[in-house]
Amino acid sequence: MEKDILILGIETSCDETAASVVRNGREVLSNIIFSQIELHKLYGGVVPEIASRKHIEKINQVIEEALAVAEVSLQDIDGIGVTYGPGLVGALLVGVSEAKAISFATKKPLVGVHHIEGHVSANYIEHKELEPPFLCLIVSGGHTHLVLVKGYGEYEIVGFTRDDAAGEAFDKVARAIGLGYPGGPKIDKLAKEGNKNGITFPRAHIEGAPYDFSFSGVKSAVLNYINSCEMKNEEINKADVAASFQEAVIDALVSRTIQAAKDFGMKKVAIAGGVAANSSLRETMERECKNNDLSLYYPSPIYCTDNAAMIASAAYYEYIKGARSGLDLNAIPNLKIGQR
Ligand code: KG4
Ligand code: ZN
Repeated sequence: MEKDILILGIETSCDETAASVVRNGREVLSNIIFSQIELHKLYGGVVPEIASRKHIEKINQVIEEALAVAEVSLQDIDGIGVTYGPGLVGALLVGVSEAKAISFATKKPLVGVHHIEGHVSANYIEHKELEPPFLCLIVSGGHTHLVLVKGYGEYEIVGFTRDDAAGEAFDKVARAIGLGYPGGPKIDKLAKEGNKNGITFPRAHIEGAPYDFSFSGVKSAVLNYINSCEMKNEEINKADVAASFQEAVIDALVSRTIQAAKDFGMKKVAIAGGVAANSSLRETMERECKNNDLSLYYPSPIYCTDNAAMIASAAYYEYIKGARSGLDLNAIPNLKIGQR
């Protein structure tokens, strides 16, 4: 029997301080997440300087807890996987410095992980049978990408957003209707009480780029709608706004994903990232995949939003291929997918 590989994952790219121990890329022994949301809520969004400071305060405690829950010591770990981009530079630096320090002290190998590749790998945790190739829609607060996962660590981007990320649009619209930060889960909840066909918001199509997205138009349309209601002293039906906006975004996400799966001959579709926790996106994707004879995979909500188990999983597949990062690993805030 081959030896088990234990990876300690570390994630600090935005406002979650997270550490996790994962066995053989798919079995989560611990998944500790300290969410800073309560702190940033006060300001209506993530404040980078506060995020970095909080990561520094919490990182050791979160790692110790991850090791304790997994019932392992640093000596039992085979490698350390850490997010080194994309993300907030000050926040990323905390995780990267910590991982480098542990690697130096324990002489265990270090593997730098792309945050979005981590989101893709979140699907491996609960779907033991899922193997590339598949098409993955990654929808988070900072990213909207349609990616062909050709093999472990082999990615080809086929579509991306030209402006706002899907999660960013959710957060901005939520703020405009007074729901607060983070807006995605709040819109998801409120939309259940609204009429998704109540207001028609635009769906952008980009000429010559059938798999690309644009959400700034729908976001502006919602803001204009709110303004014009206010001018006319008409009361806004927030639930209808939430449901109709959500429908426009989901329509764009699902139609392009299904089209790309057909065009690229993919039989399996996965979704990942914070917005993949959206209940209506899951339902619509489920229905459309069924209608088109495609298998759909998505992580539990806890593995959709930022976590370190997905980072450890992605690091494992790099580790077994022999990828190693040096102690010169740096935080790269605008790291491109597939870039090493
Ligand atoms: O993946 P993530 O935790 O962080 C980034 O890498 O950006 O994603 C956070 C984003 C936020 O914009 C949040 O509003 C959105 O995911 N989100 C949701 C839901 N849960 C989180 N959006 C829509 N519906 C949800 N249920
Ligand atoms: Zn993320």
